[in-house]
Amino acid sequence: MSKRIGILTGGGDAPGLNAVIRAAVLTARNHYHWDVVGITRGFDGLYEGQPTVDLQEKDVRELLARGGTILGTVNRGSPFAHPKQLADGKIEYEDVSHIAISRMSEFGLDGLLVAGGDGTMAIANKLVNLGAHIVGVPKTIDNDIGGTDITFGFDTAINTATEALDKLQTTAESHHRVMVLEVMGRDAGWIALHAGVAGGADAILIPEIPFDIEVVCQKIRQLKLSGRNHSLIIVAEGAAPIGGQQQFMSSASGARLGGVGHVVGDLLADCVGSEVRVTVLGHVQRGGQPTPYDRWLATRFGSAAVHLIAQEKWGYMVALQGTQMSAVKIEDAIKMKFVDANGETVQMARDLGVVFG
Ligand code: F6P
Repeated sequence: MSKRIGILTGGGDAPGLNAVIRAAVLTARNHYHWDVVGITRGFDGLYEGQPTVDLQEKDVRELLARGGTILGTVNRGSPFAHPKQLADGKIEYEDVSHIAISRMSEFGLDGLLVAGGDGTMAIANKLVNLGAHIVGVPKTIDNDIGGTDITFGFDTAINTATEALDKLQTTAESHHRVMVLEVMGRDAGWIALHAGVAGGADAILIPEIPFDIEVVCQKIRQLKLSGRNHSLIIVAEGAAPIGGQQQFMSSASGARLGGVGHVVGDLLADCVGSEVRVTVLGHVQRGGQPTPYDRWLATRFGSAAVHLIAQEKWGYMVALQGTQMSAVKIEDAIKMKFVDANGETVQMARDLGVVFG
């Protein structure tokens, strides 16, 4: 039976989103002969009834290597709490989820593929509970979505962060400096842990292990005594000292994690007697071409999600478990996935002499 399906991308972008769109369109068109449309600007675009975009083979041909999302996205806002400005300038939040759901039938959609992180999946799950025909695809550079071993975008982010450490290493060595690199990841330390190990960091500070700066200072002093006059410290944006708070920056769209790199840099400058420099990698981690692995994973996810729609597995999200493509309930996926502070990979890094503060 012929179907018409929609694709929506929500939350912060991640390299590989366009590869998901491409794979979903090609699978839907080639295998099922369905029509596919894109919803622009995430759930906001759906609620607002933005015109849909026809997606045919020709529209997705060059998308495999392109970063970002051709459909656009918003990473704040929800149809369950849509901001409305009142006459006195105050903002009131209203539930417009029923409008979002009615748009799906207005657009003639038999199913909707939603690619997003935990926030987007939480919205999708609530809409499914109200009867929406949605399947999910796990996206985030942070790799913190439950139910799947890995999310697409993560590999590209750790490549970027590792390359940054490699570059910082040579300049650190030349100047005998301590280099601090702050990376993203929200409340999870996956990017810092993986890039830290791959880039040979001497200390890895992650949210799952509150740090004692003195431990890092001791490590740097030991390195100096052993004749190595430079060191590399990678800090996840969500890391915090023992008994202390995470660092936030305020912006027009609200408070965002960030700033711990400079806090750590200042503390180290006080205790180690070397020059310290801080680099905040920021959105470079989210941009640019996806790695071949992320293209591969995003393609598998996009294609598998269309098969889930064919099976009418509403409320399920595609997932990678081991090497197998699988599906989990979205409600299980929105339980976030953290680095195990006592797990094998942290212990392996400790065995190498890396400190976690
Ligand atoms: O979730 C992805 C992520 O890149 C986080 O690592 C980071 O904290 C956040 O998004 C930044 O979001 P924004 O695009 O609002 O700056």
